[in-house]
Amino acid sequence: MKELTLTNSLQTDKDKQKQETLKDAGEIPLHIAIIMDGNGRWAKSKGSIRLHGHKVGVDSVRDITESCAQLGVKYLTLYAFSTENWGRPSKEVRGLMKLLVSSLRKEAENLNKNDIRLATIGQMDRFPKECKKELQEAIELTRDNERLELCLALSYSGRWDITEAVKKIAHHVKDGRLDPDLINDQMISDHLSTASVPDPDLIIRTSGEYRISNFLLWQLAYSELYITKTYWPDFRRDELYEAIRSYQQRDRRFGKLNSTEDEKSFSSRFFNKKS
Ligand code: IPE
Ligand code: IPE
Ligand code: MG
Repeated sequence: MKELTLTNSLQTDKDKQKQETLKDAGEIPLHIAIIMDGNGRWAKSKGSIRLHGHKVGVDSVRDITESCAQLGVKYLTLYAFSTENWGRPSKEVRGLMKLLVSSLRKEAENLNKNDIRLATIGQMDRFPKECKKELQEAIELTRDNERLELCLALSYSGRWDITEAVKKIAHHVKDGRLDPDLINDQMISDHLSTASVPDPDLIIRTSGEYRISNFLLWQLAYSELYITKTYWPDFRRDELYEAIRSYQQRDRRFGKLNSTEDEKSFSSRFFNKKS
């Protein structure tokens, strides 16, 4: 296994110990999705401009990506720019595009060395040429890596994703290749931009907002939610561990009864009532 040195700083023994304790304590989520929110408010609280918040946010991306890879998370999906974010002042949008390009230039080689595969979901055709080029190069460079898939949701929205899936399926029907009665939820999942990826187990939102903001609407059906007041630029690995600890304590029932314990207690209560 390759050593992970994304931050160019060696992992401390204390951090290794924390990760081992977390792995021993329970299941590590296979797929974590994060709504990285609060960059602007973080900057404001420091008396700085919004773009400064976005820049420090990239350090959080690096730290969280590195720690997810070390923990054995297989998929990390980061909401970096929503369809609605195009509606922000053009100065901020341009700043974000430039930051994306410079971050990719700086990090692509490190991602590759660390066996991390880069992917994107969203309307890539809306991005400036230079962004698309950097993204395509980084995706190409890292395409065979297997340790972790880092997927950036860029110009993404859940409604866009579902709309595109519906269009593709409608075309199959129109061409006479699909009986509409055969459309089921698996088929819809298979036509979303996330078709090759399992649904997120854990979704984290930073900055304390209790909303999904048009993220993976279909895919989040049974994801566990973790919301923290921490702004994204301050969200680092220790808080990720906190989120995973919380996840490990959840009872994921998927609408059913989980353990035989539950079943036993349900049937005894049910029958006691009847008799
Ligand atoms: C999240 O931080 C980053 C993007 C949406 C691009 P914000 O820029 O939304 O920061 P706040 O929510 O205004 O503090
Ligand atoms: C969600 O944050 C989008 C991203 C993190 C990329 P926003 O700041 O755009 O969402 P709202 O406006 O608070 O819902
Ligand atoms: Mg925000």
